[in-house]
Amino acid sequence: MQLKIDWIAVNGYERVLRFEEPRLGLIGFIAIHSTQKGPALGGIRICPYASEELALKDALNLSAAMTIKCALASVPFGGGKTTIIGSPKKEKSREYLHAIGHAVNALKGLYICAEDSGICTEDIAAIHEVTCHAVGLPGEKGSGNPAPFTAFGVLRAIKATFAFLDGSDTLTGKHIAIQGVGAVGGHLAQFLFWEGARLTITDIDMEHAAKISHQYGALLVSPEQIIDTPCDLFAPCALGGVLSATHIERLRCRAVVGAANNQLPSIAEGDLLMRRSILYGPDFVANCGGVINVSFEKNKKGYNASASWEFCSSIYDRMLAIYKLAQKEHISPGRAAHVLAEKEFLNVEDPSNALTQTS
Ligand code: NAI
Repeated sequence: MQLKIDWIAVNGYERVLRFEEPRLGLIGFIAIHSTQKGPALGGIRICPYASEELALKDALNLSAAMTIKCALASVPFGGGKTTIIGSPKKEKSREYLHAIGHAVNALKGLYICAEDSGICTEDIAAIHEVTCHAVGLPGEKGSGNPAPFTAFGVLRAIKATFAFLDGSDTLTGKHIAIQGVGAVGGHLAQFLFWEGARLTITDIDMEHAAKISHQYGALLVSPEQIIDTPCDLFAPCALGGVLSATHIERLRCRAVVGAANNQLPSIAEGDLLMRRSILYGPDFVANCGGVINVSFEKNKKGYNASASWEFCSSIYDRMLAIYKLAQKEHISPGRAAHVLAEKEFLNVEDPSNALTQTS
């Protein structure tokens, strides 16, 4: 293996590296935004980035978002991310996955990788063959697929949203529109169905969406129609950047809470939602169930699904606290979440305390 590693100095980031294995056609970046609360945790994303610059930019943005996500989830980790230029659907050889693991090892435990788009739990298992700094392992070894835990966390965030809006968190009869019924959105549809919610769903994979629609009595609409659907709550569970100013103008709901990462192109769109009296549950709080679940793999006592489930359940209280702070300070929930995240950092007196909570 001819793995080439170059270190890149980036202001505001602890470590950034570019790795390349020319023979395997592998080029990627690892960014560590912060290890103040513990080793940086973050997924490996494989994406057909148009340039190295875009891949690096994504690693930087996503690792900074992971710092905030981990702080608000109260898990003893910082923010990191790996981005790799390539097709997420491409068959990955064991050698290719091992090369990624060796790049992770270059950070000597400061970064712990997990799955993200284009990487599945089996890929993580192969990466784990060469590095112990990987979580989200399948089977008895680890916590497995995080999607059901992420969906459960989104459900809890949705319930907190209605508790704040209506004084009751019952979902019976509430109309919820889900964009994307993949791993997370599919589980969310199931959970919401059992809570008595009325569903409208979409997906670019209409064949798959039709199955979910049949299973949970959901109305199926085209991907173009979902934004305009009159409903109580819109749940983006597909793409990032979906809440652009144009889309916000089209929304006909009282609240937006979903799993998709980076739903707002910038924090300013959060203010726009506020001006339209649409309550927005910040994505990095709503979707932190997956991070909570993989973080339990590094728990000294070993992975415990029940403890993880209980921790994910507390997303309800976190979201409610954010809404209340936003209301008190007349700011958007996104800005309130950042205020709370900063407070979390002030609570870290000695980062080595956080590290001792993980093995
Ligand atoms: P997935 O790939 O299993 O599901 C996404 C679904 O969205 C797919 O079925 C896809 O066909 C559909 N889709 C893509 N573009 C669409 C469009 N324009 N309109 C409608 N549907 C569209 O991914 P997964 O794991 O369910 O993740 C969903 C989102 O949640 C992503 O943004 C991901 O980053 C985020 N997330 C996922 C976590 C997890 O545990 N899987 C954890 C935290 C965040």
